Amino acid sequence: MIKAQRGTKDIFGLEAAIWQGIVQKAKNVFTSAGFEEIKTPIFEATELFSRGVGDSSDIVNKEMYTFSVGGADKTASSITLRPENTAGVVRAYIEHNLNRQSPPQKFWYFGPMFRYERPQAGRQRQFHQIGVEMFGIKEAAADAEAILCAVSFLKAIGLNSLEVEINSLGCKKCKGEYRSSIKEVLAPYLEKLCDDCKMRYEKNPLRILDCKNEECQKILELEEVKKVIYKDYICDECKEHFEELKKYLDELNIKYSINKLMVRGLDYYNRTVFEIKSSALGSQSAVCGGGRYDTLVEMLGGSPTPAVGFAMGVERLYSLIEKPLESDDLKLDYYIVSTNTLEAMKLASKLREKNVKADYDMQKRKFSKQLEKAAKAAKKAIILGEDEIEKGFYSVKDLKTGEQRRVNSFDELV
Ligand code: HAM
Repeated sequence: MIKAQRGTKDIFGLEAAIWQGIVQKAKNVFTSAGFEEIKTPIFEATELFSRGVGDSSDIVNKEMYTFSVGGADKTASSITLRPENTAGVVRAYIEHNLNRQSPPQKFWYFGPMFRYERPQAGRQRQFHQIGVEMFGIKEAAADAEAILCAVSFLKAIGLNSLEVEINSLGCKKCKGEYRSSIKEVLAPYLEKLCDDCKMRYEKNPLRILDCKNEECQKILELEEVKKVIYKDYICDECKEHFEELKKYLDELNIKYSINKLMVRGLDYYNRTVFEIKSSALGSQSAVCGGGRYDTLVEMLGGSPTPAVGFAMGVERLYSLIEKPLESDDLKLDYYIVSTNTLEAMKLASKLREKNVKADYDMQKRKFSKQLEKAAKAAKKAIILGEDEIEKGFYSVKDLKTGEQRRVNSFDELV
């Protein structure tokens, strides 16, 4: 038997109905905040991610599904299944001049992402994200708006008590100085760092700060190292930006904590980064991750444009929300019980045109068998026997109460 690939999952039945509810809520919350939906392709040029997400990230180094397409000659091109969607949205933003409207330009999306990671609870190779990206605003109000929208959506799906963590990575200038001092203090321990961190030491030493490896953790716990990594390194302008964000969050009554070691796993961030976590998720505790990326648009060929956004893992949202035992969405409004297939087919089609969910038997099964199917699949049965067809009425049976009554017109059925 051919089975689904490791780290992928089939979603159907009640789970699919609940997923649809989550995505519908996202659509409601984000469109009412002025975000437009954007759908970008699932595969892109590999270069978009190596340049966009950054070649010091685990994603680009180890986790991309990359293919060479177009033959082995010079026309062959390298494509990658998107591991995340910020780079793709930025590409689309530049390609279609979406900056023509006055800022902010706000987009939301939902779709599958692909990372070749070791599968475990909360971590898959194909997973789904709901995310937003907002362009054109450098003020901290945009960072606050992003966090506010994320929290509002989480509330709308019943998740009220998640922990918001924020940090500021500073700008190119202050990050540069911080990088150098981290390298300096870690230099004597370079050989003891894990292989990933040895590479990070050269490419992006800040990423060492949230390494989960035990040996690396021990080094980060050393007093002399702690003194450097917890130092207030960001410049006055970045500090002011961060203070402003905190003020907005305080005024909005959004509880948060500051996690000075949070750097996030993608290279494009500057200033604000944030995560929303739940301890109920175990080691993969983040449902939402995001932040500001003021240099990415320019780096990918557009004009300098500040931007901020976030993405949430739908699988993780699903595992946290309270799930109903059944969903009315899965039930038909009517199951038509009839041995006259053609009449049943016509009635079902007329009902469906009116957005009434209806189905019927296609095999001329016995009435009792059809009623059994109706009881499982629908809220009500329409019994369409010879008498009903001849005299032009419907017998409608409520499948919960067992009550049956005569309905005289199609409109009444609807
Ligand atoms: P990220 O932190 O890599 O950020 O992913 C965001 C969320 O996607 C995570 O918090 C988690 O819920 C979910 N997620 C990530 N990887 C997996 C996986 N292997 N299995 C299941 N769920 C996963 C980004 O992707 C950025 N593009 C977010 C962003 C948007 N920043 C600015 N704009």
